[in-house]
Amino acid sequence: MVDDMILHNIGKLITFPGEGPVPGNSMNDPLIIEDAAVTVSKGKITGVGPGKEIWDRADLSKDAECIDCNGKCVVPGFVDPHTHLVFGGSREFELGMKLGGASYLDILEAGGGILRTMKDTRALTVEQLVEQMDRRMDKMIRYGTTTVEIKSGYGLDIDTEFRLLQAIKASDHPMDRVATFLGPHAIPPEYREDPEGYLDLMISMLPQIKGSNLAEYVDIFCERNVFDLEQSRRFLTAAKKEGLKLKIHSDEIANLGGTRMGAKLGAVSADHLLVSNDDDLEAMRENGTIPVLLPGTLMTIFEERVPRAKDMMEMGLPVALATDINPNCMVESLQFIQALACYRLRMTPNQVLAATTANSAAAIGVGDLKGRIREGYDADILILKDGSFDHVVYNFGVNHVDTVIKGGNIIHRGLEW
Ligand code: NIG
Ligand code: FE
Repeated sequence: MVDDMILHNIGKLITFPGEGPVPGNSMNDPLIIEDAAVTVSKGKITGVGPGKEIWDRADLSKDAECIDCNGKCVVPGFVDPHTHLVFGGSREFELGMKLGGASYLDILEAGGGILRTMKDTRALTVEQLVEQMDRRMDKMIRYGTTTVEIKSGYGLDIDTEFRLLQAIKASDHPMDRVATFLGPHAIPPEYREDPEGYLDLMISMLPQIKGSNLAEYVDIFCERNVFDLEQSRRFLTAAKKEGLKLKIHSDEIANLGGTRMGAKLGAVSADHLLVSNDDDLEAMRENGTIPVLLPGTLMTIFEERVPRAKDMMEMGLPVALATDINPNCMVESLQFIQALACYRLRMTPNQVLAATTANSAAAIGVGDLKGRIREGYDADILILKDGSFDHVVYNFGVNHVDTVIKGGNIIHRGLEW
């Protein structure tokens, strides 16, 4: 195979060995190659190893791109496995309400929060939704995210939920996307007295979502005053029968048993997990469900507790991290989340890197293509401005990515701090 790109003079290449999710107790043991090089052909990685070895076996085309990494650190493109990127409007005014003592669920109960965004979202066409989502992805890719999961969930009616899923598919942004149907994100005002009726409506959409390949996953917000355990089970069971893969928002504020239930149904991930107990963690381990932690959300809901990241890792769970970007948590930068995970969840830089590459890729079912710098994988690669990944969490609030390579194409080079 003729190589069309070589990255050479890499001071330190960091990736994770093996395939599949990295068990929690191995997340501190990356594969580090010093003085490394990587070759790429047609968007795929063809060689990774010590520079001399790779130069010797590279078969470079005459116009191959030779990228001198100047001794800097190279890591896999980041994978953000939990986002709500497609919505209208913004909710900066809720900050004052929260500072004044209103809780996240108080605001939702009063018709704000998700229900406020629902109104702003219903007003938009597919084209407008794509335009706004693309601008957010422009920012994310500059901060090193090369693959995202995107949930619907701000339409809360059949037409708008379909438009949201269409927008995720219709975009021609270079960012790779995995779509999740989150119709049961909140109960819309029309169904306030009839949540089961709303659930029936959302379940009625599943065959078309599957048939038209509009989403690979479904998700539900299993929470006090939103969807209870039995409703969550009913929805996820119906989706599973339809052949869709499962995710669940669980244990964010109250523990309703959603994590255990989701894990037993074979959910690929359970997300939030602030108030998960030992049985929940054990159920995730038994069923191979990946815990996705969202430290940005904890910050924006003024939550001082943190999920049990260390316990999860010690028991071998392959912890993943995500931005959860949504109008309540407006953060495009996965680098900021990486820093929060270190300072708030006490994860080491290596654990943080595993959680935003190999494990986050596994949490959205793309772990065999993304999240590692490995032969046969997609050439989604970042060149950092520093010689080690530790700087990313140490010196937070700035952009440590210099170069973004996506599917073998240079998307950004020489990015500003
Ligand atoms: O994951 N918790 C539920 N859903 C989102 C928040 C959505 C919103 O507030 O708009 C989350 O944090
Ligand atoms: Fe979320």
